[in-house]
Amino acid sequence: MKGQEAIALIDHLLQSVNKKHKLNDVQSIVFLETWEGHSYQEIADRLLYEHEYIKRVGSLLWQKLSQITGEKVSKQNLQAVLRRYQHSRASDNCTQDWGEAIDVSHFYNRLQELETLETWISDNSTRAIGNFGIGGIGKTSLSVKLAQQVQSQFEFVIWRSLQHSPTLDVILSDILLILIGSEATTNNFISALMEQLRQKRCLLIFDNLESILQGENRGGQYQQGYEDYRQLFARIADEPHQSCIILTGREQPGGFAMRSGENLPVRSLKLCGLSPPVCQQILADKGLKATLLQSRDIVNYFGGNPLAIKLAATTIQTLFGGDIQAFLLQGNTVFSDLWDLFDRQFDRLSPLQQQIMYWIAINQEAATPPKLKTEILPKVSGRQLMEALEALAERSLIEDRRSLNPTASTSLMLQPAIVEYIIERLIQTEISNC
Ligand SMILES: Nc1ncnc2c1ncn2[C@@H]1O[C@H](COP(=O)(O)OP(=O)(O)OP(=O)(O)O)[C@@H](O)[C@H]1O
Ligand SMILES: [Mg+2]
Repeated sequence: MKGQEAIALIDHLLQSVNKKHKLNDVQSIVFLETWEGHSYQEIADRLLYEHEYIKRVGSLLWQKLSQITGEKVSKQNLQAVLRRYQHSRASDNCTQDWGEAIDVSHFYNRLQELETLETWISDNSTRAIGNFGIGGIGKTSLSVKLAQQVQSQFEFVIWRSLQHSPTLDVILSDILLILIGSEATTNNFISALMEQLRQKRCLLIFDNLESILQGENRGGQYQQGYEDYRQLFARIADEPHQSCIILTGREQPGGFAMRSGENLPVRSLKLCGLSPPVCQQILADKGLKATLLQSRDIVNYFGGNPLAIKLAATTIQTLFGGDIQAFLLQGNTVFSDLWDLFDRQFDRLSPLQQQIMYWIAINQEAATPPKLKTEILPKVSGRQLMEALEALAERSLIEDRRSLNPTASTSLMLQPAIVEYIIERLIQTEISNC
């Protein structure tokens, strides 16, 4: 059993006593670290907490678990007790197929997002949840973590990545095989799936949705040969059933935004960047000890993007001998893997969207929609401009300055790391044109 699975089990145990109980942040970290064999002293050192405090968190947690399980739980027998409990739960009867889901044993925080998502799912009326945003922000990880946490509410949990652009028939025949237990006897896979979603409570997770979308679009159009996914998602969103689908990806498919709303069966969650203390934990996992101030600088620079933070951590280790300050002081932070990540997203933008990104990067302080409209060449209509801005905001590539400071004027901004990337790209284009 992996640490994260064990956490889900403990939450389940705690909730068997009180539905609202679950591990808090510090308890989760102390538990995970203990699970991996670290001493309280090591945990305290890594998290920059007092040893006594960590010890107290640990022993209170074991006491609570002892009360619930009826056996004495300690650091030593933790694994054995939970394994026994897991086996006793096997009768819970949830069939799971995790496909290519990633390991989330070093997933931190996101407690608020998980709580919101759990509430939506427990509500039973939520048929579809979308989680779309910039690459590396943690969409996939969150979807796996969520599915682990809510699995006991479902008869089936099936997680699939669309990264290699499978046709709908391939995906559905595979899913129907799991749900029905034998090959589907019809050619209408969508209707057969809807029948299953009505009969059984299933959680389906489709990740990397952008792989079947066109890019360069404004409405999340599907690639040729993948339009039938639109019909599938529309039917899951619109028809009554007892299941739920979670869609994640860098771009939102057409029709999703129109269907989603706070009190509707289709919901949407936007992931923000992680906070400096969580960034500290990610760096600590990489063996880097950052001060809160340093992690704040890193978070500001990379918009709290966990993938960018991890890539930066690797650079700090390989090129700066672990010296975070030296990394922060030198100017160039976007290269190799991070460059590729931005490249892949930038290349999918339309020429107008790319041009807007260049323009905002150059005119950072004064980048407002009216100014953009008068200055961008060739001239575009107000509608074209607003559509392009909307598409960029949906992909989390641009932000409204007021989201950081409500008193600021309406102006558009890019994360510093993206500005660095765009300017560097501009310079490269100039050089290659010379
Ligand atoms: N809350 C978190 N705590 C620690 N690490 C995290 C967290 N969220 C994400 N990560 C790490 O950041 C990296 C990127 O996360 P993930 O793959 O989930 O992002 P994504 O939004 O799905 O990216 P993409 O758009 O490329 O699919 C992974 O290595 C993941 O382990
Ligand atoms: Mg992903």
